[in-house]
Amino acid sequence: MKTTFGPKKIMFPCPAALIVTGNMEKANIATIAWVSLLTSSPPTLGISVGERGYTGGEIKKNGEFTVNIATVDIMREADFCGITSGREVDKFKESGLTKMESKIVSAPIIKECPLNLECVLVDSGVFGSTNHFVGKIVETHIDTDKLKDESDYTSFDTLAMNPLIYIGGAREYRRIGEKTGDAYSIGESLKK
Ligand SMILES: Cc1cc2nc3c(=O)[nH]c(=O)nc-3n(C[C@H](O)[C@H](O)[C@H](O)COP(=O)(O)O)c2cc1C
Repeated sequence: MKTTFGPKKIMFPCPAALIVTGNMEKANIATIAWVSLLTSSPPTLGISVGERGYTGGEIKKNGEFTVNIATVDIMREADFCGITSGREVDKFKESGLTKMESKIVSAPIIKECPLNLECVLVDSGVFGSTNHFVGKIVETHIDTDKLKDESDYTSFDTLAMNPLIYIGGAREYRRIGEKTGDAYSIGESLKK
């Protein structure tokens, strides 16, 4: 049996992504869980950013941002960045998170996050009270101690990355579990 609830905002797992805007002198962090890869070529991702926050205006003004994947180790700091606004708070200073220069964009990346994506804004729209920003990924940073082979970006150790997972609906954080199979191949055995 199933029961229904009408339109609800439930989705899991979602990454606890930390969106950084600004530059090395003045930067802000906002926690954004509504993030998705959109296209392969060029590689783009989409983020949903409320109109009321500080981040939306910064992305429109600067045309760039970075996406930094939070870990369980910085859960408190990530949550803090999602319950405070850059309008009132210097979140880098108050959270203790560390700014690092990006390679291409002016918006910094966060040292404590093992995966950082530099993005240039290529499209945007407003739906309801939410901005939809499409960012072209122009650079990818991965902590070398999370890579089994430093020349292969796909060799990262997912458990060592320890990404902070957000469960939309339940409003809770979780950690990632053990590998259960190989994607794009485990289903082969069901092919006729
Ligand atoms: C776990 C978590 C996930 C969140 N996800 C989103 C999101 O996907 N989109 C959004 O607009 N706000 C999201 N928020 C809320 C923003 O982070 C919050 O409004 C923040 O104050 C915005 O900061 P800013 O004003 O500095 O931009 C989330 C908050 C938390 C704690």
